[in-house]
Amino acid sequence: MTEHDYTISLNYQHRIRFTRNAFDEGNRMLARLLQTNGRAKVLIFLEDSVAEAFPKLEGEMQEYFSSTPGLELKRIIVAPGAEICKRDEKVLHSVWDAVNEEKIDRHSYIFAIGGGAFLDVIGFGAATSHRGVRLVRFPTTTLSQDDSGVGVKNGINAFGKKNWLGSFAVPYAVVNDFAFLHTQPENVRRDGLVEAVKVALVRDGAFFDWLEDNVQLLAMLKPHALEEAVERSAILHAEHIAQGGDPFELGSSRPLDYGHWSAHKLEQLTDFALTHAQAVSIGVGLDTLYSWRTGRLSENDAKRVLALLDGLKLPLYHECFESKNVNGRRVIFDGLEEFREHLGGELTVLLLRDVGQGEDVHHMDEALLEYCMQMLKKYSAATTADERERVFG
Ligand SMILES: NC(=O)c1ccc[n+]([C@@H]2O[C@H](COP(=O)([O-])OP(=O)(O)OC[C@H]3O[C@@H](n4cnc5c(N)ncnc54)[C@H](O)[C@@H]3O)[C@@H](O)[C@H]2O)c1
Ligand SMILES: [Zn+2]
Repeated sequence: MTEHDYTISLNYQHRIRFTRNAFDEGNRMLARLLQTNGRAKVLIFLEDSVAEAFPKLEGEMQEYFSSTPGLELKRIIVAPGAEICKRDEKVLHSVWDAVNEEKIDRHSYIFAIGGGAFLDVIGFGAATSHRGVRLVRFPTTTLSQDDSGVGVKNGINAFGKKNWLGSFAVPYAVVNDFAFLHTQPENVRRDGLVEAVKVALVRDGAFFDWLEDNVQLLAMLKPHALEEAVERSAILHAEHIAQGGDPFELGSSRPLDYGHWSAHKLEQLTDFALTHAQAVSIGVGLDTLYSWRTGRLSENDAKRVLALLDGLKLPLYHECFESKNVNGRRVIFDGLEEFREHLGGELTVLLLRDVGQGEDVHHMDEALLEYCMQMLKKYSAATTADERERVFG
């Protein structure tokens, strides 16, 4: 018997660009970004709501490619997005069909232009066609620009669970085009800031201070404040992925998933009536109170976190926290087991030691979590600053 171990080292370039009107004929960023080796095919998937918000976009894209030597636009496919596209496989199959029909190869590009759900599905289609076609992501929502777009994950839901089917794949590039940000429904535009709050909490206290200072402007969706928050958040996410030492999540620690163990379960329990962003807000609120009650975070910092989320008009409680199974145990706690299962290994949940600094723990006390849920319930029902203060006793 012989044993042979080899190390296979892979180096990826994570290309992230911030721009405005990428398909404007005067904007040559894309032409510089794509390697054509003479001639490269491009297949574009455009989310229907984005096509609707930008009726001239398809024409602009056609003009852009006809005036850009080396790039051949094969087709623009307009398809539905939002969470539903991760639950039925129609959009995923349309990617495979088009790759096959247009003879898209591993030197061609697939552009995905849409919200986080749409990018997850198109990304999975690109990653599984020919074992990986170059993907250029154009996130069009706050959440997808400030978080998931610069990530390296894609996937669809299966067995009633989020992202059960998917893969890790570093996109060829991510283009955060600010022109897309301002047409989303108002709540979607504001709620996506929750991932900026989250990444500030786990990585950058100064950014948290900035979010606090700008909460009014952000709540009013002032474009310059929104764009700055999105850009700073995206860079923090990208830095963590590129420099954090575990881009493909082989270990058990998932700092960027702060507050997400309950968030994923809340989405599922509400049959996705709660969006990812809203569920994350509640999950961040819960784990923040828990961080305080376990003696890690100061009371003042816990109050600051809830006040910021509240200032951004994000929810902090949902009644499905009360759902219990036949044994009287809260169903939300299944989220801990599912969180562990998704990654394998030991349960690892990040809690806060400070604003900007986390700490992994491997056990969560259910009685204490119940106490924190009750606090969130009272905090959400409070209508005045005094009432909110009294929740902390
Ligand atoms: N892959 C990852 O690492 C990762 C990380 C975080 C979240 N996610 C996933 O991202 C998804 C949520 O993404 P989201 O918050 O972007 O929501 P979304 O994709 O559901 O989009 C929200 C709504 O906005 C519409 N929309 C998108 N862009 C628009 C525009 N420019 N103008 C008008 N309407 C527009 C969409 O049609 C949709 O109705 C969830 O499925 C979540 O699980 C993935
Ligand atoms: Zn998230």
